[in-house]
Amino acid sequence: MRIDVVTIFPEYLRPLDVSLVGKARARGQLDVRVHDLRRWTHDRHHTVDDTPYGGGPGMVMKPEPWGEALDEVLGTPAGAEPADAEPAVTGPELPTIVVPTPSGRPFTQELAQRLSTLPWLVFTPARYEGIDRRVVEEYAARYPLHEVSVGDYVLAGGEAPVLVMVEAIARLLPGVLGNAESHRDDSFAPGPMAALLEGPVYTKPPRWRDREVPEVLTSGHHGRVARWRRDEALRRTSQHRPELIERCDPESLDRHDLAVLAELGWCLDRDGRFGRGSVDVEE
Ligand code: ADE
Repeated sequence: MRIDVVTIFPEYLRPLDVSLVGKARARGQLDVRVHDLRRWTHDRHHTVDDTPYGGGPGMVMKPEPWGEALDEVLGTPAGAEPADAEPAVTGPELPTIVVPTPSGRPFTQELAQRLSTLPWLVFTPARYEGIDRRVVEEYAARYPLHEVSVGDYVLAGGEAPVLVMVEAIARLLPGVLGNAESHRDDSFAPGPMAALLEGPVYTKPPRWRDREVPEVLTSGHHGRVARWRRDEALRRTSQHRPELIERCDPESLDRHDLAVLAELGWCLDRDGRFGRGSVDVEE
């Protein structure tokens, strides 16, 4: 997969040199190119922002540098350096643009999974109050484009969201995590079962500061271990994300799941959805 990031803070993306993403790059599984937006400014001060039309606080990113930057980056076929730029990109190498913004659609595991199947992503993290709207309209007319938020809070810019999204996507690429099964049990892993949070994990030693590892995990009994993990996932989801239980399809649960949920105070209402009279309390 190829990933381009256009930013006024290229140094902010340095974490992409280390750990999982850094190793995937070193192995050639990921081709990450970070571009300084100011390269496409033409004034002495390398201006990228201006005051908003209609007034109001803050500054807005000017369309011209973004337009020139994106035309050049998007016109560069995978495997070629910017000097070889060709204008039209078609077919399977069509890039998908990801615009981080708090007003975008939520970034979820499902979206991470969809994006991880694409050959080429271009991220456009903005600073200030965002990018002139015409830029998003212009490129959405020419390429697949997603405006995406990493959560219901406002950050100073889109660079941290890019780090979050690239890591979530890169770990799903074939061969990036050593074990292909590693994401099967991820919290939010899509599948026929309800999306549940992952339960607790343990490693050696079996006793630490008088605290024992749950006996079932050392029993060697795979069926009991799987059942215990699922019970813990249901408990944790009920406590931290009750809306996931409310949204889940009861058909995806077995009898034991239903018994655990009943123990936690959940019951099926007349529409066949889970509801609960009282809210459980943090232990
Ligand atoms: N830019 C600022 N806040 C953001 C958020 N929550 N998600 C994506 N981009 C952002």
